[in-house]
Amino acid sequence: MATSLGLNALRLSLSVLRPSSCAVVPCQLTVAHKSHNATHVINYRRTRAEMAKAIRRKQNFLHFELVDKHRHSPLQTGTENISQETEVTAPRNYRYVMPEFMPRPDWERRDRVLEKLERRDMMRRRAIMNIPEFYVGSIMAVTVADAYAPSKKNRFVGICIDRGEYGLKAYFVLRNVVDGLGVEVMYEMYNPKVLSIEVLKLEKRLDDQLYYLRDALPEYSTFSFDMEPVQLPKGADVPLNTTKVKLKPTKEWECRWEAHDLQGVQPFEVNEKRMRRKEKSAEPWKKHDLMLDYRSRVPEEEEEQVMAEVFREKQVIDSQRKSMRTVLKKRK
Ligand SMILES: *[C@@H]1O[C@H](CO)[C@@H](O)[C@H](O)[C@H]1NC(C)=O
Ligand SMILES: *[C@@H]1O[C@H](CO)[C@@H](O)[C@H](O)[C@H]1NC(C)=O
Ligand SMILES: *[C@@H]1O[C@H](CO)[C@@H](O)[C@H](O)[C@H]1NC(C)=O
Repeated sequence: MATSLGLNALRLSLSVLRPSSCAVVPCQLTVAHKSHNATHVINYRRTRAEMAKAIRRKQNFLHFELVDKHRHSPLQTGTENISQETEVTAPRNYRYVMPEFMPRPDWERRDRVLEKLERRDMMRRRAIMNIPEFYVGSIMAVTVADAYAPSKKNRFVGICIDRGEYGLKAYFVLRNVVDGLGVEVMYEMYNPKVLSIEVLKLEKRLDDQLYYLRDALPEYSTFSFDMEPVQLPKGADVPLNTTKVKLKPTKEWECRWEAHDLQGVQPFEVNEKRMRRKEKSAEPWKKHDLMLDYRSRVPEEEEEQVMAEVFREKQVIDSQRKSMRTVLKKRK
């Protein structure tokens, strides 16, 4: 019986997700508990009232409590008391600080329950390990568990040249030049093998991806492994490093960079053939394509909902961490 209840509940929570089928929910509920006994009817009545409240408050929006009620997992303990009720709005720039929390703008494959559960797991990871704010262009140090290293740990320092994917699959790439050889490591941000992520120098660059550093002179991506962290003054903006790197004079690059409209690169010349090719492959209409923007982002209201949720949970985590720190200080 428990399974059939679980299935019904799942169907219910799924139907809440589709605003057009809101009207269906109550009738499905009555059918659902006719066949069960009194205890369950009471439970369902409560769930139904909560769902109705959730629908009234925000269509297309499902509370964690409702999702978790039907998810019987041992991981669940200890996080029930995160307050859900107060209305919070995240600061406007929050989606740029934690872009991996944004839902994937892929309409055909979106699964809102999965997104929600992933966000929850990500928050659990963040409660254990601090994942700092960083951007493409920041210099970072990452320590991972490595069974084959003598100390069972491996620390790598480098400049973040890319960051991408959504949810638990979020990754970033660090680049450094070690003994004259370019090394790049891609880290999964929420992989449990990652033990710590430090930002040694928080800054942004002029481009969203810095793969052109592969074809730049090596001094632009050489960083010392015992670099000291650079502290920013409290409340300061993230500095924008406007350095323009110099690409290698040989034009045997791994990519035709002239076609990429790079901001952080010193002007360079290429031969006429490559210029012609560039003109051929240019897509000047792209900047007028409104649908492109529409397809590559979820609607703004939804972004705000997600970010408010993330913001709220982050505050809970931060306050817990703060109280933990004071407890530790007192013990000392
Ligand atoms: C109601 O369900 C519970 C749990 O399934 C069961 O133990 C109990 O006997 C049921 N009560 C009635 C009146 O059927
Ligand atoms: C959650 O809150 C309730 C009442 O406020 C309390 O009884 C319960 O122990 C709390 N749970 C946890 C895990 O802190
Ligand atoms: C910008 O980056 C370059 C290359 O990493 C570095 O040499 C320079 O000091 C940085 N500029 C500032 C203002 O930090």
